Amino acid sequence: MARHTFKLNGKVVTVDVHPDVRLLWVLRDLIGLTGPKYGCGINVCKACTSHINGRAFNPCSVRVGDLKRNDEVTTIEGLPKTVGKRLHPMQEAWLDLDVAQCGYCQPGQIMTAVAKIKQIKAEGRSVTDADLDEIRNVCRCGTYPRIRAAIKAAAANM
Ligand code: FES
Ligand code: FES
Repeated sequence: MARHTFKLNGKVVTVDVHPDVRLLWVLRDLIGLTGPKYGCGINVCKACTSHINGRAFNPCSVRVGDLKRNDEVTTIEGLPKTVGKRLHPMQEAWLDLDVAQCGYCQPGQIMTAVAKIKQIKAEGRSVTDADLDEIRNVCRCGTYPRIRAAIKAAAANM
């Protein structure tokens, strides 16, 4: 066991756990944040997608011992706070277009989408279908057409 400190959704947290434990299990089982979902556990399905220092990443494949004190992890639970609102514009677009079916993949889809649009805006351009083709998050319910429509709608409000 060892103590690990990092920032999570705007607050400093410390956990006491073996450094090899992957961050997804720290988030879900030790801290109780179940927004990031466990799908594959090997960085393939993207159901656990969250942000580290503003970029999308997959906590199922990151050792908690590799986090630094100043690393800022954001999960879907902390996403609205990043814009100071009850819901992030991406979440609002998701609701407007009724994207979710079973819902399991959706937190990861939203976190990927937010990071993707932020990256595109930083490059000073608009989202294209080629950008959306790069998203690898799996949705077993096949909600891809609504996901793509919601990302395009949200981009206008971000
Ligand atoms: S559970 Fe993390 S990528 Fe599948
Ligand atoms: S909504 Fe069911 S897996 Fe995506």
